[in-house]
Amino acid sequence: MKTWKVGIAGLRRGRGFVSVFAAHPRVQVTALCDINQDTLADLGEAFELPDSALFTDYDEFVAADTDIVMIATPIRFHAPQTIAALEAGKDVMCEQTAAYTVEDCADIVDAVRCTGRTYMMAENYCYFHYIRQWKQIVDQGKLGPIFHAEAEYVHEIEHLLINDETGEYYWRHERPPIWYCAHCLGPLLTLMDDRIVAASGSSAGFHKHPEQSDHLGFLDMEIGLFRTQKDALIKIARSQVAPRYPHMVYYSLYGTRGYVENGRDGSNTNGYLWIEGETPDDERGQRQAEVIHCTTVDPDAPEEAKHGGHGTSEYYMIRDFLDALEAGVQPPIDVMRSMDFTVPGIIAHESAMSDGNWRDVPLFDW
Ligand SMILES: NC(=O)c1ccc[n+]([C@@H]2O[C@H](COP(=O)([O-])OP(=O)(O)OC[C@H]3O[C@@H](n4cnc5c(N)ncnc54)[C@H](O)[C@@H]3O)[C@@H](O)[C@H]2O)c1
Repeated sequence: MKTWKVGIAGLRRGRGFVSVFAAHPRVQVTALCDINQDTLADLGEAFELPDSALFTDYDEFVAADTDIVMIATPIRFHAPQTIAALEAGKDVMCEQTAAYTVEDCADIVDAVRCTGRTYMMAENYCYFHYIRQWKQIVDQGKLGPIFHAEAEYVHEIEHLLINDETGEYYWRHERPPIWYCAHCLGPLLTLMDDRIVAASGSSAGFHKHPEQSDHLGFLDMEIGLFRTQKDALIKIARSQVAPRYPHMVYYSLYGTRGYVENGRDGSNTNGYLWIEGETPDDERGQRQAEVIHCTTVDPDAPEEAKHGGHGTSEYYMIRDFLDALEAGVQPPIDVMRSMDFTVPGIIAHESAMSDGNWRDVPLFDW
């Protein structure tokens, strides 16, 4: 079995990935890149890498001895860094979302086509244990055809938008909330086996931070409505400033024969499942959903899977990527699917900032 040499760029979020990749017996981490020399040196020491494997310059990093490049830098760098790595002959796993513009998404797709290398977007929430459990229920047709779904990802991270003491802005200040839609759309579209064909958007302005109205990351809330190829409707609510604690990622699916949802109190919650003809009525003979536990951790996962972030999701995500590379097939979240999870948010924001009307969402296909 081949040992895959992996290089990782962007070492804050990437720090976790060094551990997750290192937990896979088929992987050797051979290069690290970060523009921050201290971060780089710190991680190089923690993982006992020689100085020759540590790079502050991305171009030198992509020329290093690696098979796979994992990109976990701020999103504005994803497109140019992805394309440079593909053109250097590397297979790429990139943090989400893929890019900030439709044009950059198209350029990534073209680069994958031209180089023949593999690209997977690291949409880890698709790999939450409860999403994998729900997938089995949906695939068995127990909920019937899905006609509506919702997701809410409300996570107050103001300290990652601006430094309160110095007033310095960090990269997320320029990211409108709905651009970061993959944690919502990824799991829903995976469950529904569907694609978005049209989007509209609307936003609540800067009520909480009127002084930040030039910085779209501070929009109070952005709502995206999405129409799917199978004619279902999806509603997504996104905020990175709303004062809601605990933060939450919430999903619900409505089918003709039932529904499922998780709780809104954090990431490991109790939710509800109701299936026509299967869920028993309560003691009063009334229809009553079953309470289900929605955990991100697969209790049956191998021990090494539990060292990764976000439950066992990242271990399985990387395993799928490596399996696809070894089999010479496309990974589950291939470059086209990555754009399905990225582009609708870009279009919804465009709509929110103008007339709020529905707009077609471009689809990328092999
Ligand atoms: N999937 C998830 O659950 C999840 C969670 C957090 C972050 N993310 C994603 O991870 C990525 C990074 O987010 P973060 O929170 O670590 O950001 P961050 O700003 O905290 O850290 C970014 C790191 O990248 C380095 N860096 C910046 N520009 C660089 C460049 N051009 N080349 C090399 N290194 C560079 C910085 O020095 C820093 O160490 C983003 O794409 C974000 O969306 C995903």
